[in-house]
Amino acid sequence: FAEEPSAGEKKQVENIAHRGAAAYAPENTIASYDLAVDMKADYIEIDVQRSKDGELVVIHDTSVDRTTDGSGKVGDLTLEEMKSLDAGSWKGEQFAGEEIPTFEEVLDRYHGKVGILIEMKSPELYPGIEEQVADALKERHLDTPQNEKIILQSFNFDSMKKMDQLLPKVPIGVLAWSQSQATPEALKEISEYAEWFNPSYGIVTEQVVEDVHSLDMQIGSWTVRSHEAADFLFDMEVDAIITDYPDYVDPRN
Ligand code: G3P
Ligand code: CA
Repeated sequence: FAEEPSAGEKKQVENIAHRGAAAYAPENTIASYDLAVDMKADYIEIDVQRSKDGELVVIHDTSVDRTTDGSGKVGDLTLEEMKSLDAGSWKGEQFAGEEIPTFEEVLDRYHGKVGILIEMKSPELYPGIEEQVADALKERHLDTPQNEKIILQSFNFDSMKKMDQLLPKVPIGVLAWSQSQATPEALKEISEYAEWFNPSYGIVTEQVVEDVHSLDMQIGSWTVRSHEAADFLFDMEVDAIITDYPDYVDPRN
C-alpha cells in the first residue's frame, strides 16, 4: 500500500502542464509540450479546434491573433494557412518558427510518453468535431482501458455527454467556473457521465472536494500561476493540478 503523506508533506497529485509549460514556452506548441515532458509533467493539456478545411488543430483562442503573427478565426483558415504562421515568436525570438500543431501530430508524438488532457475548445463552433476526435483516438487504439492516460474535457457539458457515448471507456471531465456548477445536485448530474470535475481554483473548497470524491469522481483544478495557488490546491488535496508552471507542482522542488 502507498503510504499516506505525513503532515506537511505534499500529496501525490497529477501534474498537468497547461497548454504545455506555458509559463516558459509558447502555449500549445511542440516546444511547450517537449519542455513539459522534460519538466516531468504527468500530462500535457491541449486545446483542440478545427480548420476551415476540416483538420483538427491545437490552439486555445478561437482566433490566431494573440499567439501567432497572423490574424483571423481558426475556423476561417485552412491548415496550410495556419501552418505558415509563426506561433512562437510572440513568446521570444528563440521560439521563432514554432507551428500550430495538428491534433494528430500531438497524439503521435506524445501518446504513451506523457498523459494527454484533451480539451475540446468551443466545440459548438465545429459541428461533428466529437466524432472526429473519437475517430482519431480510435485509430490509435486510445479508446480502450489503458495506461496511456488520455482524458477528455470541455466547458461544453453536452459535448462531453456525447464523447461519453462515443468513447465510453475514456475518462471524461467537465470544466467549471461557477459555484452553481459545484452544488451537490449539479455534481450528481455530472457524475452520470464524467469521471473528472475540473473547476477553477476560485471555487474549490474542502466540501467540493469531498462531494466530488463521494461521487467517485476525481478533481483537477486550474490554472496555477503562483506558488500560493499551488500550495492552496495541495492543501485541498485535489487529484490533479493544471499549471502553467509544472515545476511548482513537482514534489522534488
Ligand atoms: O484545463 C483547464 C483550462 O485549460 C481551462 O481554461 O481557458 O485555459 O482553456 P482555458
Ligand atoms: Ca484549455
